[in-house]
Amino acid sequence: MSNIALPIQGATTSPIDTHAVQQHSIPKTNVQEKTPVIERNQFYYDVLAGLNASQKHLSPKYFYDESGSHYFDQICALDEYYPYKTELTLLPEVASTLAKNLQGQFALVEFGAGSLLKVKPLLNEIDGIHRFMPIDISGEHLVSACEQLQQEYQSLEVAPTVADFTQPLALDGFHGLQPLGFFPGSTIGNFTPDEAAGFLQNVRNILGPDSYLLIGVDTKKSPRTLHRAYNDQMGITAKFNLNILHRINRHFDSRLDVADFEHYAFYNTSEGRIEMHLVSRKAHNIVLDETIIHFDEGESIHTESSYKYSPQDFQTLAAKTGWQIDQAWMAQGDMFSMYLLKNAVH
Ligand SMILES: C[S@@+](CC[C@H](N)C(=O)[O-])C[C@H]1O[C@@H](n2cnc3c(N)ncnc32)[C@H](O)[C@@H]1O
Repeated sequence: MSNIALPIQGATTSPIDTHAVQQHSIPKTNVQEKTPVIERNQFYYDVLAGLNASQKHLSPKYFYDESGSHYFDQICALDEYYPYKTELTLLPEVASTLAKNLQGQFALVEFGAGSLLKVKPLLNEIDGIHRFMPIDISGEHLVSACEQLQQEYQSLEVAPTVADFTQPLALDGFHGLQPLGFFPGSTIGNFTPDEAAGFLQNVRNILGPDSYLLIGVDTKKSPRTLHRAYNDQMGITAKFNLNILHRINRHFDSRLDVADFEHYAFYNTSEGRIEMHLVSRKAHNIVLDETIIHFDEGESIHTESSYKYSPQDFQTLAAKTGWQIDQAWMAQGDMFSMYLLKNAVH
């Protein structure tokens, strides 16, 4: 099998950033090599910097190791977690409209691809997709999802990239096909509005001229519905959130008792975002290698924001990043939106 090793991406700015990125090229019939992202040093640096900040914080990208990806799949199966089901219900309609309106031969590039379930309606409807290039930070999970997808879509060329899409990213070319980006799951909401603008500009540069981007964006809605979605009764979201502490214990020589923290999620109306935190149940110190970090009782680590966008908010964001809204879809009850963006810069 041909396996393309990319140069290390996003690794030149920090002396301890040795984040290595592997690109797996999956032949049509066989997938064998699985090289996880080697990320210890970057993780180590980010955890120490985040836990030493005045508002302690950790990046949500660190939720997604093998366990985190499985917890996310379990969240998607929950009744309370409307974004997943709503977008999945909307997608066949979106895909059939795209099949009618988008003529050409496409390389589909999915950002934050997860378990690859949302791409299927697109693959089923749009005959012109020949190459599928999913990108995800959760390497083992991505490669195993690609193996399954390859079995189902044998003529599709599947070329996954295990990478952090917040870092500079060089893809392995589109092989003469027109780039069609796909960014479902409202993962855009995990960025602050400024970060989201930077990301969308970056995606436009990665995909280049004549590209499109299909993006799923969660909408503003009743705080009650939002609260339920991030505080499920079975406590799966809590496990997903707390998994980041287990991950710290795996990476550091640490004495961190996960039971000393609890999941807390609420809708911050003025910011228009869900905030997830891990709240210390008591005043205590944790030790990470040689570093001691103090927590007051009730002090929190901010682990994720999930910004919600009205159509007007999103239109403003898209316009300032060089994307033009070509088509828009809104799920029943204005529960979730999807947009087809066209690169407006030539
Ligand atoms: C909210 S989940 C969405 C998964 C899937 N796209 C869906 O819609 O159900 C976010 C996905 O993005 C991936 N991800 C998060 N941060 C990332 C980053 N910085 N670089 C690459 N992938 C990332 C996660 O591993 C996860 O699969």
